[in-house]
Amino acid sequence: MDNAREAAIKAARSAGQLILQKMGNNKIDQKGSFNNLVTDADKAAEVIILDILKKDFPGDEILAEESGAGGSKGTNRRWLIDPIDGTTNFAHSYPFFAVSIALEEAGKLQMGVVFNPVSNELFWAQTGKGAWLNDKQIKVSKISRLQESLLSTGFSGNGSNIERFKHLTSITHGVRRDGSAALDLCFIASGRTEGYWELKIAAWDVGAGILIIQEAGGQVTDMDGNKLVLTDGRFNIAASNGQIHKEFISTLAELQAAKTK
Ligand code: 2AM
Ligand code: CA
Repeated sequence: MDNAREAAIKAARSAGQLILQKMGNNKIDQKGSFNNLVTDADKAAEVIILDILKKDFPGDEILAEESGAGGSKGTNRRWLIDPIDGTTNFAHSYPFFAVSIALEEAGKLQMGVVFNPVSNELFWAQTGKGAWLNDKQIKVSKISRLQESLLSTGFSGNGSNIERFKHLTSITHGVRRDGSAALDLCFIASGRTEGYWELKIAAWDVGAGILIIQEAGGQVTDMDGNKLVLTDGRFNIAASNGQIHKEFISTLAELQAAKTK
């Protein structure tokens, strides 16, 4: 697994360098809807990552945002790759985006790397080895009440989250909406925020961040508090420092119940 981590860090740094060079000077296209963007930097960064990983780990299964599923199905290992998490930010030169690379073995996350090339912050975790920000080990915060928490969320290209955003803003220290799920998760892991939720997110956006939170002492489930399954499709997620998880999930459930009344 150390080899996989080294390859993932090399790939994330190489992709990050290219992304920084292209910031402010890239061609923007739409994928399906007007607000689902892809740039030439997303595609070029993904090629760099895949070239590095495929050289060292030929045959592994791959799920990457721009090229989809690849490699050999049915192998024990699957890489989850997002060349730019926060493409809308990148396309506007809003400096909050990251490269995200994770590795699962037998369906279990084993290693994750999230690299923000603007701040030069590299978050990583490996099962049993803790979570790290550059060369310092990180831990989630000790805050135990939702009322004292800072949260984040995202809208994954649709507005159906707005009632939750409104209510949670009124009962916590605040809710940030910064546009990168991978960094939102790493901010919980490093104690900067306490919780995060989002609907219709994809495995490549959150795979690495989930392990980084778990190894930092936090908790990740679906929005009902059940075990999260990283499908090839889209799913809902709730992550926290662990301390506030029960209260956070029950508040999300109350909001869901009020909505369906
Ligand atoms: P992306 O930049 O890789 O697409 C923020 O809310 C999260 O949602 C980010 O992780 C972002 O990842 C994803 N996202 C943003 N716009 C989206 C859209 N239109 N469809 C699906 N996912 C989106
Ligand atoms: Ca992306």
